[in-house]
Amino acid sequence: MTEPLATLRGVSVSYAREGGRAFALREVDLAIAKGERLAIIGESGSGKSTLALALAGLLPPEAAVSGQIDWPGFAEGPRAGRDIGMVFQDPGSSLNPVLTIGELVSEGAVRHLRLGRAEARQRALDLLARVRIPQPEAALDAYPHQFSGGQRQRIAIACAIAASPKVLIADEATSALDMIVQAEITALLDMLVREDGMSLIFITHDIALAAKLADSIAVFRDAMLVEAGPARQVLGRPVQDYTRSLIATHIDFSSPRLIGEPA
Ligand SMILES: Nc1ncnc2c1ncn2[C@@H]1O[C@H](COP(=O)(O)OP(=O)(O)OP(=O)(O)O)[C@@H](O)[C@H]1O
Ligand SMILES: [Mg+2]
Repeated sequence: MTEPLATLRGVSVSYAREGGRAFALREVDLAIAKGERLAIIGESGSGKSTLALALAGLLPPEAAVSGQIDWPGFAEGPRAGRDIGMVFQDPGSSLNPVLTIGELVSEGAVRHLRLGRAEARQRALDLLARVRIPQPEAALDAYPHQFSGGQRQRIAIACAIAASPKVLIADEATSALDMIVQAEITALLDMLVREDGMSLIFITHDIALAAKLADSIAVFRDAMLVEAGPARQVLGRPVQDYTRSLIATHIDFSSPRLIGEPA
């Protein structure tokens, strides 16, 4: 038996709208296992980011939430930043432009691991080296704008793992990058998750990426979970017509993105 990481039961999220409420998630039941790599796919507006935010406890105050999310491994629920690391789509805007890379990367370690100044700087240095930022020592005192999009995403990933979270949630972490950089960032996530034994929940529009990286796949449409299961099964023998059409319209067999394989 695999140990559960999180179990969602009847989770709904809605927002007030003129004349009623709009549901971003509707009655979602989903079990996520410890150490699992779960890909969340589905069309724009289907509730994928809402699910990620609900899991991380980061929904805005105007969201009305019902149902239950259990995290058996976390007595008081996981804390975003400490137990759950988050990586978002746009590595430009997720990094505060007025802070140095050293300040950005050590923030989580200072706050959650209570490291002193010198230790935090060393931690930031180690993290930058780990995400393969060239010349990490010099990078510590530089600012986000001095780095490329791909490097900024590496830095954002370093921030996300600074407090050694058990879970990494990546919301379209590679979509804003060009194909080569996407592959590099994906390979980096793959390596970090493997080395640290983190669970990975990642949202993607890229079915090929889901096929490559995920153990299981959850398919969302119009705020509902329409299909979930092992990646092989969902992609190879989808039960729902919607999943079939999603695969048919999105899969790009000419794509060279076979992450982690030699070129
Ligand atoms: N803060 C908010 N206030 C009101 N409505 C919201 C809010 N956040 C999300 N929604 C609505 O909830 C629905 C689901 O949004 P969500 O961002 O989860 O979709 P998504 O699947 O991540 O889409 P995309 O692929 O475009 O990122 C959408 O209709 C969206 O407009
Ligand atoms: Mg989204």
